[in-house]
Amino acid sequence: MSEEFHKIRRLPPYVFEEVNRLKAAARARGADIVDLGMGNPDLPTPSFVVDKLCEAARDPRAHRYSASKGIAGLRRAQAGYYERRFGVKLDPNRQVVATLGSKEGFANMAQAITAPGDVILCPNPTYPIHAFGFLMAGGTIRSIPAEPGDELLAAVDRAVRHSIPKPLAIVLNYPSNPTAYVAGLDFYAEVVALAKKHEIIVLSDLAYAEIFFDDAPPPSILQVPGAIDVAVEFTSMSKTFSMPGWRIGFAVGNERLIAALARVKSYLDYGAFTPIQVAATAALNGGDNAIGEVRSIYRKRRDVLVESFGRAGFPVPAPSSTMFAWAPIPEPYRRLGSLEFSKLLVEKADVAVAPGIGFGEYGDEFVRIALVENEHRIRQAARNIKRFLAPAQEARQNVVTFSRSA
Ligand SMILES: Cc1ncc(COP(=O)(O)O)c(C=O)c1O
Repeated sequence: MSEEFHKIRRLPPYVFEEVNRLKAAARARGADIVDLGMGNPDLPTPSFVVDKLCEAARDPRAHRYSASKGIAGLRRAQAGYYERRFGVKLDPNRQVVATLGSKEGFANMAQAITAPGDVILCPNPTYPIHAFGFLMAGGTIRSIPAEPGDELLAAVDRAVRHSIPKPLAIVLNYPSNPTAYVAGLDFYAEVVALAKKHEIIVLSDLAYAEIFFDDAPPPSILQVPGAIDVAVEFTSMSKTFSMPGWRIGFAVGNERLIAALARVKSYLDYGAFTPIQVAATAALNGGDNAIGEVRSIYRKRRDVLVESFGRAGFPVPAPSSTMFAWAPIPEPYRRLGSLEFSKLLVEKADVAVAPGIGFGEYGDEFVRIALVENEHRIRQAARNIKRFLAPAQEARQNVVTFSRSA
């Protein structure tokens, strides 16, 4: 057994692990690391949802195996959410599956639909499971731009003409992790038209449907007439209701794709613990106020981040949605690449961020900053960074002054 296993060779060690190791070592030395690295929501789950979990857990009938595709009430609640929020009508029995987090749903959808060598069009940079879910399933990834627009559409067109076999599926993720790009319905309509023309499946990851600040609420691709013929969409309770550890998400949309996912899941799991599903149902049916509170906390953190990091000499473009800022590495550190820069931030500024390279090769000039610490801690991170950047900035100013006076 000297050779690495076939699948494991396709799963390189998580890039983020290197930063995590340094972070753990720094903490062991007593450093107070402000951790803006992992997208792990820090806010508590709304108390009415926790109460519902406790109540349901006291019923011994809830201790048995649950339903792999989700209990009926939960699937109905998700269909109700889609109708309220997007005006999209779904059949809870045939077009909705509850998943153990959207990541599980996405990865098992990849297992369900991929044959060895199938080509998948995947944004770069993107959330790792979008590519690795398919790589684990034996697929091949062809990168497309992450930004919604003409370049992406042209890349799909080129892929259809030049990849062999023709692409099986395209992955979209708006609002996007890590870039925070958002897409409008016009763009989705163009993708759906292309997908229909070339018989390509569309997998839309809408995990950040409810984490938006300025613009109109992000749309669902299923709002495009006829999208359900080609598309499935994934949503998550993790960010919307601060329930990351509960592991509840959904896949909704095209019946054939949903049936394929449900079939794979029926062999693998018995569904989430029933009380978790009952509590998730309560959240979806009555949690609109809670969503508003979560949104306003992230919005304030976003504003503090942009303002305080900007003053510290690290300009951060303001994301209009998601819980992340996608920040170009400040000059003169950009040439180091995102991993080395992130390591420096841990070691010299006691701040952890996620290196952009962890989301794909086209992310290497950026770091992702997650809004998962409170405003006070974000300001502290900015002060630390200001101290770290100051010598380089002074040196640059001296060079400018020197060259002006020379
Ligand atoms: C774009 C995106 N999709 C999916 C997920 C996974 O969410 P879940 O907790 O529902 O598996 C995340 C989590 O960070 C994400 O950023």
